[in-house]
Amino acid sequence: MSDKSARPGQPARARSWPRLALVLTAAGSLVVGTMIAFTPNASAGTTLGASAAEKGRYFGTAVAANKLSDSTYVGILNREFNSVTAENEMKWDATEPSQNQFNYANADRIVNSARANGQQVRGHALAWHSQQPGWAQNMSGTALRNAMLNHVTQVATYYRGKISAWDVVNEAFADGGGGGRRDSNLQRTGNDWIEAAFRAARAADPGAKLCYNDYNTDGQNAKSNAVYAMVQDFRSRGVPIDCVGFQSHFNAQSPVPNDYQANLQRFANLGVDVQITELDIEGSGTTQANNFGRVVQACLAVTRCTGITVWGIRDTDSWRASGTPLLFDGSGNKKAAYTSTLNALNSGGNPITTPPTPPTTTTPPPPTTTPPPTTTPPPGGAGCSASVSLNSWTGGFVATIRVTAGSSGTNGWTVTATLPAGATVTNTWSATASGNSGSVQFRNVSYNGRLTAGQTTEFGFQGTGSATGMTPSCTAS
Ligand code: G3I
Repeated sequence: MSDKSARPGQPARARSWPRLALVLTAAGSLVVGTMIAFTPNASAGTTLGASAAEKGRYFGTAVAANKLSDSTYVGILNREFNSVTAENEMKWDATEPSQNQFNYANADRIVNSARANGQQVRGHALAWHSQQPGWAQNMSGTALRNAMLNHVTQVATYYRGKISAWDVVNEAFADGGGGGRRDSNLQRTGNDWIEAAFRAARAADPGAKLCYNDYNTDGQNAKSNAVYAMVQDFRSRGVPIDCVGFQSHFNAQSPVPNDYQANLQRFANLGVDVQITELDIEGSGTTQANNFGRVVQACLAVTRCTGITVWGIRDTDSWRASGTPLLFDGSGNKKAAYTSTLNALNSGGNPITTPPTPPTTTTPPPPTTTPPPTTTPPPGGAGCSASVSLNSWTGGFVATIRVTAGSSGTNGWTVTATLPAGATVTNTWSATASGNSGSVQFRNVSYNGRLTAGQTTEFGFQGTGSATGMTPSCTAS
């Protein structure tokens, strides 16, 4: 990126007059702004990750593998964050430098560090017009389409069970007012390349949430409207998409939009999670602190906003370091922006009742992805209950089953699900299955059988056919 003051992929000189008008308005209001008070509550967490977890969210950061030997960096990383994203190490050029020869060494350093420290991992990014290896840049048509799908399948399979959410497709829409797709070698393979990538990712790792990720979509505009239409279309046709990432790279030319929360909410209303995926805000002092607080407040106000990732730890780690856009200064000291972020996390917001738990075993995490569950009622007494969330597409589905312990808790549980005719279970995680069609029994595995009263756990399975109408029941032991 040669022009680091520009939005990603958008040179500064390409900005339009309407954008400039926005800048001036926002700049004026920033000057007169005062510190927003985010008062911590009594049970406030004292780190970003702990405070976010109290609200059922994660708070993550981008990590660079070559900084994992920097003790100041690692100290902050493991103290403050409960989610990480590889800043560059999972991109196509890094993981498949030669066709069909995969190199996960640097990405593995990040994943292994995260897992050793109880952090979940966001995968970034499977298919993108940028940071493609040279061999792919030179491809087109069916050969490129197949190479892309192979890449998605191989990488998502390799990391199966270790990734909480994948940015399956990154930055596929054009800037400006056109509201269309960005021209790229991938786009020229056919307009359906995005949904093909999502289907391949789902098949490879049914436990990961699958996100579309982009920038300049943080407020309502032609570009975010186009993404919105795509997500709406995907949901209506059963293309497996679970979440939308809002990169949220802000500066004076591209400030936090006034309709930021409303924009997150309208996407959430489509039945997908929303995540703030690459947050950084150029600036300093009170103005910067207030803007970080606003972003956190907006996420907490949207029930399906499941987490925030900042795009680096110290200002000096940033892809645009001169803008000092992060929460820690170059020496690793907490900035005012840190305090404002922490205080906002500790104030208000809509709690998510089941906090995301980072995967601690090789068992795939369940995809808690889908529309409101079709449920069996929660138990009034002892025993347990089970509810299902279905993510379906033509010819297949992923079911996430939530088990809730009754008033006596459980030592173990068995969920029985009767699948409609023609449906077959192909793959189960966080439970063991007996049978694969008709009446199928799912038993707890070693780590999730013992539940205290009211506690929940989730497992999942993937299948072919349709599971619509399936109602699970639960018995406790
Ligand atoms: O590691 C090499 C180094 O060996 C070499 O000497 C140097 C020479 O240029 O390059 C180094 O690699 C650079 C790499 O960052 C690591 O610093 C690449 O050139 C540079 O292109 C790369 O930039 C990354 C950029 O994506 C590439 O598009 C940034 O670190 C990364 O923060 C940025 O992240 C993107 C997200 O993936 C998508 N959204 C926008 C965001 C910001 O641009």
